Amino acid sequence: MNNNFEISFELVGKKIGQDIYSDHGILLLKKGTTLTETHIVLLQNYKFGTLVEIEDKYPNDKLNAKMQKLYDQNLKEISTLFQNINLNNSPPIKELINAYQPLIEQATDHTDSIRYLHGIKDYDEYTYRHSINVGMISAVIGKLLGRSKKDIFLLGQMGLLHDIGKTMISPDIINKPGRLDANEWQEITRHTIYGYQILKEVEDLDIHIPAAALLHHERIDGSGYPNGVKEKDLPFLVQILSVADTYDAISTERVYQAKKPDFVGINILVEEAYNNKLNPAIVFPFVRYLMRQYIRKEVVLNTGDHGEIIFIHDDEPHQPLIITNEEYVDLRKNRKIRLSDVVRK
Ligand SMILES: [Fe+2]
Ligand SMILES: [Fe+2]
Repeated sequence: MNNNFEISFELVGKKIGQDIYSDHGILLLKKGTTLTETHIVLLQNYKFGTLVEIEDKYPNDKLNAKMQKLYDQNLKEISTLFQNINLNNSPPIKELINAYQPLIEQATDHTDSIRYLHGIKDYDEYTYRHSINVGMISAVIGKLLGRSKKDIFLLGQMGLLHDIGKTMISPDIINKPGRLDANEWQEITRHTIYGYQILKEVEDLDIHIPAAALLHHERIDGSGYPNGVKEKDLPFLVQILSVADTYDAISTERVYQAKKPDFVGINILVEEAYNNKLNPAIVFPFVRYLMRQYIRKEVVLNTGDHGEIIFIHDDEPHQPLIITNEEYVDLRKNRKIRLSDVVRK
């Protein structure tokens, strides 16, 4: 079987099947090395355009089996906890957090996994999957930003529990497919306060966890809810969670919404950063990471043209250099042209 692949971020987590040398004969990577994002960047710099041999089977188009098993177990546990929660007894939140830890470890070891989180969801499962996803994505962003292990796990827990207050809101409102009226919307916004009330009662819980429930819909310019607080009163870890929450909420398919094209989530994050809603110091490293996974991929533009992504600029990762019909187009220079979707083959 031919196991040679183009160098791309899809290879993160794979083992290489050959020693790789630079053009000057310097050993870059040893056979059997498990590829990380840093290795991919190194290979893209030194071995651009060549193929590398991979030991394991490919392509990996879903979560790996171990992660899928952990994901399904967590889904069951969080569904049970969320369904049985009431304010009169103390929910087993500590147990839930402990059971979630191995999944966060897996996610931060295989950061590309967050690409496979956005399958179709049924009504009831949506909040549970969203909670697990936001924890995983927050932890991966924490890792990208070089936060400590302690912060990374805390981010996972904040994500897992950020929407726990939704358990206090009628499912008819939560799952309503159409527009919400003013009262219904008011009630939805209260999931932040309900979540805070539930979590602040839990003993020995890091203060960031109830704070995340209360503050994750706040925006740095003060335009969020429930209190309209601004950047200086929003802990940085909560700001990370807000980016992960926004990204998952946009990207995840729901029963009553058609599948969103790949770049919708990325474009909205960038817009929110430019509009001073989400912190650009978090959004841009995350978008850079997401965009690097599309290098050498065929994409569709909002003009309908097709092209291939050649280079991701560090400062404007969402507007890469592409090649269309033998012509290089730098999307930084023409802001009306945007990426719409990726072509799946
Ligand atoms: Fe929320
Ligand atoms: Fe959320």
